[in-house]
Amino acid sequence: MPDTKTKASILVVDDNKITCEVIQRNLTSSGYRVFVAHSVTDAAAVLSHRHIDLLITDYKMPALTGLDMIKYARDHFQDLSIIMLTGYGSIKGAVSAVKQGADEYLTKPFTDKELMDTVEKCIKKYKERNIDPAVLYPDNWHRFGLIGQSRKMKALFSTMQKACENDATVLIHGESGTGKELVARAIHYNHKTRSGYPFIPFNCPGVPPSLFESELFGHVKGSFTGATKDTRGFFEASENGSLFLDEISELPFELQGKLLRVLQEKEFTRVGETRHKKMDVRIIAATNQKLEDLVEKGLFRQDLFFRINVINIEIPPLRDRGNDMLLLAKHFIVKFAKQLEKKEPALTENAIAALQNHAWPGNVRELENLIHRSLIMNEKAYLHSAVFPNAMKNTLCREKNLTLSLDEMTRKYVRDVVAHTCGNKTKALKILKIDRKTLLKKL
Ligand SMILES: Nc1ncnc2c1ncn2[C@@H]1O[C@H](COP(=O)(O)OP(=O)(O)OP(=O)(O)O)[C@@H](O)[C@H]1O
Ligand SMILES: [Mg+2]
Repeated sequence: MPDTKTKASILVVDDNKITCEVIQRNLTSSGYRVFVAHSVTDAAAVLSHRHIDLLITDYKMPALTGLDMIKYARDHFQDLSIIMLTGYGSIKGAVSAVKQGADEYLTKPFTDKELMDTVEKCIKKYKERNIDPAVLYPDNWHRFGLIGQSRKMKALFSTMQKACENDATVLIHGESGTGKELVARAIHYNHKTRSGYPFIPFNCPGVPPSLFESELFGHVKGSFTGATKDTRGFFEASENGSLFLDEISELPFELQGKLLRVLQEKEFTRVGETRHKKMDVRIIAATNQKLEDLVEKGLFRQDLFFRINVINIEIPPLRDRGNDMLLLAKHFIVKFAKQLEKKEPALTENAIAALQNHAWPGNVRELENLIHRSLIMNEKAYLHSAVFPNAMKNTLCREKNLTLSLDEMTRKYVRDVVAHTCGNKTKALKILKIDRKTLLKKL
């Protein structure tokens, strides 16, 4: 990774020339490129001529204030990171700064280390949300809509690659919304010989048992009431291609035997006919249940399980994919912004924190829907967690930073709750169940 320090450009806005100079000297000596402006108007001029990654602005300035500065920056340069400098004890200022779209605030007087830590944190966040397309789409699989860079997804991609090189039956297992169908399609459309032939999805629980055979194998005219013409089944429709048996665990027990026979003999018979037809179909099955458990309970045939479980693909839940969650969020922002003909909003620090703290029971589908909904509602140049639905707010806290002391952790949590309620202290007090004095002390 390139050295972030030599890359980042910072604009410092403060009417106090000495403050500007001190910050400039500190940051320049650490390798940053630093510009200064003494008013919002001057800052606007710098922003329109220079590429700036991080804006550090004072809160109190004559004429236009730091809040005006943030609003201007967010409206025109949504990808910027912003740090607001506030006076000692000005919780109100800090809260309105975060509400307006600042990523961080620093209370004066601050030490060099505090400044440096906050700047580094913001630059890191800036890199995270302005993900380079080469990072987002580094491999072949994004062509099929699959995004992922985590170790687990890379392992999945390598098993998928193997599945594209032969015709062995594939069994995909994953929680709801993890991308089972997407993976099945990607295997088919990347297959060395089958990609030019059909991919046919068949939803096992969607078919009444009485129609199962005629749906899968087809029927001839007059073979049963309602069979008015010869009809091809799903197997014939998938000839030379792939048949995707979705939610295979839901297949009634008696039908499992019929399916097994066809898979073993590689031939089937249309309902009402005696002639066997040979078939060349690749089977990809998916389930969100552990078939081994169903076999143990006697609900799924063991012989069918062995027959389909040749290449086993386990899709990890979103919560186990680390930073992939942000890559996916960014990917969906790009996708839906285009669809809705809106500018791509940047994720604020507090939106990133809300996404990272959520447990994602609905996996990628839940994230996709969340970003879609948020982009419909959002009219700003940045996406703040305030537009996220309440369900996100009752999220399981998955704090991974295990280096904080209990006191630091408590203060961090209090700040997160205040940011989460958009500065509404009454709401924050209700959640935290502490009194106002303690809240102010913690802040
Ligand atoms: N790795 C990924 N990259 C990009 N989009 C993804 C990824 N995984 C899933 N999606 C998207 O998430 C949504 C859900 O995926 P899909 O329908 O394949 O999940 P599923 O596991 O079949 O869900 P269900 O269990 O509900 O049937 C789809 O819109 C899909 O495009
Ligand atoms: Mg599915």
